[in-house]
Amino acid sequence: MAQKKAKNIAEPLKDLVALCKRRGFIFPGSDIYGGLTATFDYGPYGTELLRNIKNEWWKTFVHQREDVVGLDSSIMLHPDVWKASGHIASFNDPLMDCKQCKSRFRADSYFEERGMGEGLDLAATVELHNKHQTELACPDCGTRGQLTAPRQFNLMFKTRMGATAERDIEVFLRPETAQGIFINFRNVTDSCRVKIPFGIAQIGKSFRNEIIARQFVFRTREFEQMELEYFCQPGTQEQHFSHWLDYCMQWLKDMGLRTENLRIRHHEKEELSHYSDATADIEYQYPFGWGELWGIASRTNFDLNAHQSLSGKNLDYFDAEKNERYLPYVVEPALGVNRLLLAILSDAYVVENPGAEQRTVLKLHPRLAPVKAAIFPLQKKDGLGEIARKLYLELADFFPVDFDQTGSIGKRYYRQDELGTPYCITIDYETRDDETVTVRDRNTTEQQRMPLSAVKHFLLEKIFSRDTGISL
Ligand code: GAP
Repeated sequence: MAQKKAKNIAEPLKDLVALCKRRGFIFPGSDIYGGLTATFDYGPYGTELLRNIKNEWWKTFVHQREDVVGLDSSIMLHPDVWKASGHIASFNDPLMDCKQCKSRFRADSYFEERGMGEGLDLAATVELHNKHQTELACPDCGTRGQLTAPRQFNLMFKTRMGATAERDIEVFLRPETAQGIFINFRNVTDSCRVKIPFGIAQIGKSFRNEIIARQFVFRTREFEQMELEYFCQPGTQEQHFSHWLDYCMQWLKDMGLRTENLRIRHHEKEELSHYSDATADIEYQYPFGWGELWGIASRTNFDLNAHQSLSGKNLDYFDAEKNERYLPYVVEPALGVNRLLLAILSDAYVVENPGAEQRTVLKLHPRLAPVKAAIFPLQKKDGLGEIARKLYLELADFFPVDFDQTGSIGKRYYRQDELGTPYCITIDYETRDDETVTVRDRNTTEQQRMPLSAVKHFLLEKIFSRDTGISL
């Protein structure tokens, strides 16, 4: 059955979404079959960008931290995991259906967007529905009085596992990567030389059957998370919470996000999840407004305690320095890869000189740019193509490079600007004579002449040194 296409994209995102499709970053999911609502496929350049984001995160949150180790747990976990974590009982959204057009949407958002309350739970939405039933209009078709009373829907995707229909069991696709870390806490402490405080980090897919707004990859049903569970001694969680909040914020700035597009929002007491004694969101100013980017939560020992109780396995930790046993507390920075990719693309998207001379550029941090350099032989003939090919092979050993020998140099620059490629190198007739090339800087459009033999070191220095030396 054909599904609604990704036509439902909020207006402020439209130019960025068009660039993503035009330049091979992100395509609507199942495109040739008419699309599948709110699913997206990453094209060649989007795939490189996703990888770079994950690699940079892993480097800063795992490799550069003596106190963090990595993990890769299963997407399907024992069903009891979700009982213990509270996801079966309380991972719900209150939803309403339109009897006329069959649209489904979140009841709390519906009433909140109309100024009828804030932080509404199921009971509050039911009360509002009962009171105003005949006036309530469907946001999709506009029909009044046809909205069903709000009902709770669990957000977890169910599937079945097993070889025969009689003996298979119902399992869930994980809605967060965090629980895979908690249930491996004992395995990690038993097998690795970790001492509290320490963290376990994981990158992987998560699934939630959410109601989707028109916000591109901001909220999808299948997405990737980068989560870190940092285990610490009870009573020290406040200090670690504030450390991780600063650490995460600094990393976002190091990745080139503009300070004015980032802010921290501390959760009010009433807002806190059942497991948390403090939570803050790092919010980003997306083209459609401020929204959550990264959640940093102090999760107490709720999860280890719940898994210990339900599994019957002892999960406490022996602190040799203190000579005491305790169930560690946890601070969790949890970030969506795709949501960060949207923030990075929005931040980098710049239209210079609107009008006839218009230039669209993705001013991506060089470390994140899908392609680090593009090589343009002025002509295929006269030996220029061969020199360019040789340089391509030399550089491709270190990072992704594009090779383009078609169209005018101006058109080739235009394409690479839209891909966010930091440097373009032109091989011309002078190269053949004196072995020099022109290197063009994406941000300034300035060009400099340098020896062919110096290009590799120049690029490595510019792209991978801590201080990139170029203004973003
Ligand atoms: N383990 C805690 C946890 O999962 P969360 O706030 O529900 O907390 C963490 O999710 C992060 O994952 C969010 O801040 C967001 O970046 C990302 N995320 C959550 N749901 C998402 C969705 N449906 N689509 C894309 N990213 C999502």
